[in-house]
Amino acid sequence: MADLPGEIRAFVAEKGDDGVDRGLRTVSAAELGDGDVVVRVDCSSVNYKDALATIPKGQVARISPLIPGIDLAGTVVEGPGEGSEVLAHGYDLGVAHHGGYAEYARVPGDWVVPLPEGMSTKQAMAIGTAGFTAALAVARLEQRGLQPGDGPVLVTGATGGVGSTAVSILAARGYEVVASTGKDAREYLEGLGASEILGREDVAGDGKPLGKQRWAAAVDSVGGATLAALLPQIRYGGAVAATGLTAGVKVETTVMPFILRSVALRGIVSVETPMEERAEVWRRLADDLRPPQLDDAIAREITLDELEPALDAILQGGLTGRTVVRVG
Ligand SMILES: NC(=O)c1ccc[n+]([C@@H]2O[C@H](COP(=O)([O-])OP(=O)(O)OC[C@H]3O[C@@H](n4cnc5c(N)ncnc54)[C@H](OP(=O)(O)O)[C@@H]3O)[C@@H](O)[C@H]2O)c1
Repeated sequence: MADLPGEIRAFVAEKGDDGVDRGLRTVSAAELGDGDVVVRVDCSSVNYKDALATIPKGQVARISPLIPGIDLAGTVVEGPGEGSEVLAHGYDLGVAHHGGYAEYARVPGDWVVPLPEGMSTKQAMAIGTAGFTAALAVARLEQRGLQPGDGPVLVTGATGGVGSTAVSILAARGYEVVASTGKDAREYLEGLGASEILGREDVAGDGKPLGKQRWAAAVDSVGGATLAALLPQIRYGGAVAATGLTAGVKVETTVMPFILRSVALRGIVSVETPMEERAEVWRRLADDLRPPQLDDAIAREITLDELEPALDAILQGGLTGRTVVRVG
């Protein structure tokens, strides 16, 4: 059993009358919440959902005060597996249970995944929830038959966390990847392996129920009108893996792509991924789904002190790639 420090540094979001008060505080070990495993957190990361958990209209935080951070990686210092390196993400972490933006996290043992062999805690958080989601999307598309050589695969929101890792994973597996972005990011996206870069307006389509069949598949982190525009552009038998909502939650579409082109819309949920599949995807993220650029191009590192501006930036679509938060 570890002796935890009397004061634990944490980034806390607390609802008040005038909004959400956010910032660094010290908390006690007793305030870390329930769980049979205590993890000394090395790294967490910045995800869109983390930012939503710290704003009044985010509709993500279910407790207050909350230590956000929907993913973390570190070393078990108390409980089963003591001394081993683990990662955790999803479930209630960082939304209804204190998350990764603290030097220690206490979590239920069945939330933790052993850190895959050959992966550091920093690399695990360079992937993080966003990269896991991208890998799950690729795995699900391939489960229904997608393979390199089928034609171009479109990634929307391509410079974001999900988008960047999706581009990188797909390109490394030999797919022809077309990246759609609202940023001036040709060099970055080509560095990840994209063969063509398009603006958001280039994938907006013409509004007709069936359009030119452009994409063998798509990984969409944007949702809203973008997702609606993609479905009529998917080739016969292809699929869209829908992962996100940065452009909105409302998707207006018709049945035509589904009943005339056998197009599939595959929802991707990282939060509730059953543990067996979760551990298998992480094992593959250290192996055949590993994004090659983990150490440099995709991920920058910040500290807890630098978190607040990063949370604001991701809400504006202003971050490129992944942001690892060095906690310990
Ligand atoms: N289903 C799941 O389990 C799961 C897991 C992780 C994330 N998500 C969701 O996936 C989305 C992406 O998460 P993330 O952490 O990767 O966020 P992120 O890093 O901010 O990436 C989102 C990207 O979307 C694009 N974008 C932002 N605002 C837009 C707008 N108004 N219209 C069109 N494109 C816009 C931007 O890319 P460009 O500038 O390159 O266009 C931005 O970088 C979020 O909605 C998140 O909640 C879901």
